[in-house]
Amino acid sequence: MLALQPPEPLSIVMVGSEAAPYAKTGGLGDVLGALPRALGRLGHRVTVLLPRYRGISAGERLADASIPMGGRLVTAVYYVERLHERVEMIFVDCPEFFDRDGLYTVDGADYPDNPARFGFLSRAALELLAQRDEPTSVLHTHDWQAGLLPVYLRRLYHRHARLDAVPVVFTIHNLAYQGLADEGWLPALDLGPDVFLPGALDSLEYFGQVSFLKGGVGFSDALSTVSPRYAIEIQSPEYGCGFEGILRARAADLVGILNGIDYDEWDPRRDRFLPEPYDACDFTGKEAAKREVLRRFGLPSSKAAMARPLVGMISRLVDQKGFDLVEALAGRLTGLDASIVVLGNGEARYEDMWRALAGNAPERIAAHIGFDEARAHLIEGGADIFLMPSRYEPCGLNQMYSLRYGTVPVVRATGGLDDTVEDFDPISGRGNGFKFAEPTPEALLSALERALATYRNRAHWRRIQEAGMRGDYSWDASAQKYVELYRNARRHAPGNPDAVVRPE
Ligand code: ADP
Ligand code: GLC
Repeated sequence: MLALQPPEPLSIVMVGSEAAPYAKTGGLGDVLGALPRALGRLGHRVTVLLPRYRGISAGERLADASIPMGGRLVTAVYYVERLHERVEMIFVDCPEFFDRDGLYTVDGADYPDNPARFGFLSRAALELLAQRDEPTSVLHTHDWQAGLLPVYLRRLYHRHARLDAVPVVFTIHNLAYQGLADEGWLPALDLGPDVFLPGALDSLEYFGQVSFLKGGVGFSDALSTVSPRYAIEIQSPEYGCGFEGILRARAADLVGILNGIDYDEWDPRRDRFLPEPYDACDFTGKEAAKREVLRRFGLPSSKAAMARPLVGMISRLVDQKGFDLVEALAGRLTGLDASIVVLGNGEARYEDMWRALAGNAPERIAAHIGFDEARAHLIEGGADIFLMPSRYEPCGLNQMYSLRYGTVPVVRATGGLDDTVEDFDPISGRGNGFKFAEPTPEALLSALERALATYRNRAHWRRIQEAGMRGDYSWDASAQKYVELYRNARRHAPGNPDAVVRPE
């Protein structure tokens, strides 16, 4: 008889450029803040490697290393912060690269040495793992910023006894951010023309440039993205950003795993940023939050204003998020029976657009341009409707926060939005939000108008809110799927059998 060994806990090392609460510009930060803890709860050990950006003071000095970078040695100092008995953060300190005002940009433009900064992050991660006694079961890398890690591993560290058999999983959080650099960068990254062959799968060449993202896609053992729907979409020319061919070729290695949300941070029953807690049995606290949002945004909070539905948006102000659709509706927005609040920052054209919309309708529309965690929580609590008309959305977290907070999402049916929001059907009473398919201003307006009309039917509205609040958006199930992905990657990694079957 054959018996399977009980699966051993894994030692997972993640590398990425954001992790809440230390560094966050969007959902990647939420994921790297929450997924490691969810994996820790399942009994696995997790180390997250993150740059020690300006303002991060956590951690104790752990080790130093001299990292070769294009013919010179750059010093990395590692600081460790234990978050949980099985979860630790390691911050890679290198003031030359990371002690800056922004994570990726200055005055709206990318730092010109981003290839060196994030190439260094991957190398610094591998150098540390090469020194560590604890073996690594799997490396989990995220987005273009960690895209060179599997390239370095397979080309520069493949003879290293501790690293040669470690599988790499690469997660695409957003295919549109490709981490591009001129070919001339290759020597400074210690890479040669052998990784720049046009047409090859394991190549960084992308329309004549170096793409860090392509490194992640082409050199990793397994690929994932952050929703099942997006995993399918990115294999098509419409969403594939030129990667559709490679992704179709690697379809068997690609899986979509929906993000979860961090219930420690996003729960209306214990959200420190809300004036009062609330839950599906008692919405009084939600009323209080609405009043506070109106007040904080300088909108009227009279009885009439409180009775009017409040539409909220929290977003990076970029094309992805469908603001051009909103822009096309500008004049018609003020005609709606609604107030609108927006929190966001990003492209100047959308920041200006919101300032102008608010300026033209100061009683109905208010915008806060900036990044403000407290305000984001308050909007999730106080808004009646959350609008997310994304042109594409790999997963999206705000619609899930909204569902959890009884704030009804109105979304475009794409990526993770399509996977998490079910359109309300007044006949069956099923659904937790409102969806539209076509990326047009008319389709957006019609979904929003359906939501606003339904808001007047209190029984229907309560039903939609409750459907959202009942849903399970926790990380538990998704973390389990990552574990399966890691174990599979181990099975297929060069010379590293995981599922050992032994005779009894
Ligand atoms: P993306 O990662 O594409 O920006 P997500 O919906 O996955 O989109 O995640 C966005 C995250 O960033 C959410 O946690 C959201 O609340 C947060 N966020 C975005 N813009 C702001 C802002 N201006 N202020 C505070 N939080 C923001
Ligand atoms: C990206 C995507 C977003 C996703 C987030 C976390 O920023 O744009 O849809 O939720 O990553 O995976």
